[in-house]
Amino acid sequence: MQTRGAALRVEERTFLVDSAKRTVIDFRSQARMVNIGVEYGASIWCLLAGAPAAAIYAIDRSFSRLIGMPSVIRLEGRSQDSNIRRRVRSPLHLVFVDGSHEELDVRADAVNFDPKVITGGMLIFHDYHNPKEFARIAGVARGVDSWFEEAQSVWAELEAPGSIRAFHKV
Ligand SMILES: C[S@@+](CC[C@H](N)C(=O)[O-])C[C@H]1O[C@@H](n2cnc3c(N)ncnc32)[C@H](O)[C@@H]1O
Repeated sequence: MQTRGAALRVEERTFLVDSAKRTVIDFRSQARMVNIGVEYGASIWCLLAGAPAAAIYAIDRSFSRLIGMPSVIRLEGRSQDSNIRRRVRSPLHLVFVDGSHEELDVRADAVNFDPKVITGGMLIFHDYHNPKEFARIAGVARGVDSWFEEAQSVWAELEAPGSIRAFHKV
């Protein structure tokens, strides 16, 4: 069964804007980011609000619901597919994962995009915890946990609001 996530809450939107700003401050050069799972575009607009000059790859199976015309590089398809991934240039400074909520897909997104993130960059997952909707998002928690178990020597966890789990590459 296909699982869906919850809408981004205000504090989560603020966190994304601040994370994008931090990326620009830390790296100075033009930041490069990926947003997996776009839907109406809330997370895209947050990243652009924090980093208006960033190169942002937006990956989704369909852009039919996207609101507005954000200045991003659209990659239509499954983020787990290698033909989508290979169009994303490295290094990346921030990756936001909010696409498929199935365990194996979330794990694949983490495992595949982790090596593309530069030291000091961020990997951020939405819908990791949400007590009210735990059954719907259990796949996200399991996918993130299984990646982090293997990757924790290179990633430090950041404090993050709501259903977000965020990591900083050390
Ligand atoms: C929860 S919504 C994203 C919400 C968005 N981040 C926001 O802030 O409003 C999930 C999106 O992921 C897309 N999606 C689902 N499975 C995917 C996959 N395997 N690869 C890429 N996108 C996927 C869906 O089409 C949907 O638009």
